[in-house]
Amino acid sequence: MPIVQVNNVTKVFKERSNSIPVYALASVSIEIEEGAFTAVCGPSGSGKTTLLNLIGCLDRPTEGTITLGGEAISSLPQRKLSALRLNKIGFIFQEYNLIPTLTAIENVEYVLWLQKVSAHERRKRAIEICQRFKIDKLVNRRPFQMSRGQQQRVAVARAIVHKPSIVLGDELTANLDHKTGTELMEFLRELNEKENITFLYATHDPAMMKLAHRIISLQDGKLINEKAAIQTDL
Ligand SMILES: Nc1ncnc2c1ncn2[C@@H]1O[C@H](COP(=O)(O)OP(=O)(O)OP(=O)(O)O)[C@@H](O)[C@H]1O
Ligand SMILES: [Mg+2]
Repeated sequence: MPIVQVNNVTKVFKERSNSIPVYALASVSIEIEEGAFTAVCGPSGSGKTTLLNLIGCLDRPTEGTITLGGEAISSLPQRKLSALRLNKIGFIFQEYNLIPTLTAIENVEYVLWLQKVSAHERRKRAIEICQRFKIDKLVNRRPFQMSRGQQQRVAVARAIVHKPSIVLGDELTANLDHKTGTELMEFLRELNEKENITFLYATHDPAMMKLAHRIISLQDGKLINEKAAIQTDL
């Protein structure tokens, strides 16, 4: 069974009762298989962030359903949705991923702290992942003492330390130079291949699209033909 099923999802934003509704997503259906490394592309305003936010349980669809590991998330009460987000999703955003007052290791531990994992176990798991990611020299630094590339590496550790079902990335390389961005994406690909972690990431950058197994292309909130998208984007 796919890890994520998006069935006929529409998301309408309406600022005021008399304003014109914006169809951020219109009848979108997508399946994401476990272990997939998928890019979401499309022009600004095409609905990429909206799609990631819905899959990431940060928002609910106006119409349609989304399942995560077979569970229908669109109908869950808020409390359950938050719990699901905490346990099943890893997020990496463009910036402000890390809490500025916490050190790198405290940032990596943060989700485990929210999950009420014991202090000892938390530190053990965070240290393990920092060693594996070769960021153990950075553990006592706060975000302002790290480069953007280093911060994003810590953000990746933080996003996967609790072993989520899927990691969602929104323009996660947009603030990095080409070399650092490519290195980060190659690192994610390696994690995907070695550990079968499922990634879904939105990007504008053709170089980041090239690394994907599959490209989902959106335009005006609609899915456009996947094969055609690959030919025109690359
Ligand atoms: N909270 C909101 N309220 C009103 N309209 C919104 C809201 N969020 C998104 N939209 C609108 O929905 C559409 C899709 O936005 P979205 O942020 O998903 O696009 P995107 O593809 O991520 O764009 P970008 O590449 O610029 O990040 C846009 O027209 C946007 O203005
Ligand atoms: Mg966006």
